[in-house]
Amino acid sequence: MKERSLGRIIEGHFKKGLQKVEEIFKDTRAADDKLFSYFRVFIDDKGVASVTPSSKYLVGRVLKAMDVKRASFIIEYGAADGVVTRKILEKMPAQCKLLAIELNEKFYSDLNKISDPRLIAHHGDVRGVVHIAEQRGLGPADVIVSGIPFAFLSSSGRNDLLADTARLLKPGGRFVGYQVTTHLIHPLHAHFKKVKTEFELRNIPPNFVFTAFK
Ligand SMILES: C[S@@+](CC[C@H](N)C(=O)[O-])C[C@H]1O[C@@H](n2cnc3c(N)ncnc32)[C@H](O)[C@@H]1O
Repeated sequence: MKERSLGRIIEGHFKKGLQKVEEIFKDTRAADDKLFSYFRVFIDDKGVASVTPSSKYLVGRVLKAMDVKRASFIIEYGAADGVVTRKILEKMPAQCKLLAIELNEKFYSDLNKISDPRLIAHHGDVRGVVHIAEQRGLGPADVIVSGIPFAFLSSSGRNDLLADTARLLKPGGRFVGYQVTTHLIHPLHAHFKKVKTEFELRNIPPNFVFTAFK
């Protein structure tokens, strides 16, 4: 089965399952339970695009693809409550800086609770990443990682963000994106020299991980 149709089938099942889960949890007292706090943010803001943070398997695969050992500047798009952010901070060199951009206010306040002087948490839209990095006097980056739902952007918005992403990277730098479907493969080839695709089943929902080399 082709990767593209496999992605569509997974996305279809995921959407149906999600509607059921939403019906079950919307009016329950579980809203007070910490376990459901990520899910509650999702109920209020569908732009979050996921009911749970990435699994340890997906985070592990993303970190491996990023290869942060020698990085001096990293950017993260859509950091949410920091599940990938924390791992990056754990693995990156002592002198490295991490700019983590998050649009959702609740998640941004969670990110701000991470106490690490190397982390620069920014509340805003990644579509302004060039301006955000410039304003803070940061760049170019060794690695840019993204968990944002590119499928929610218009085709020109997606194209502009990928062009900005490639421009913000050092020569030889890499972009790592994790997504539910394979829709990014074609646009990535338009902006990067080489694109590698992996698949992580052990996540809700399973995700593709793309590594694009400048
Ligand atoms: C699928 S979640 C991934 C979260 C987290 N990185 C993880 O791996 O669990 C996507 C995150 O991207 C954020 N997001 C979506 N669109 C964004 C945008 N245009 N700018 C900044 N953040 C965005 C959402 O608020 C959400 O927190």
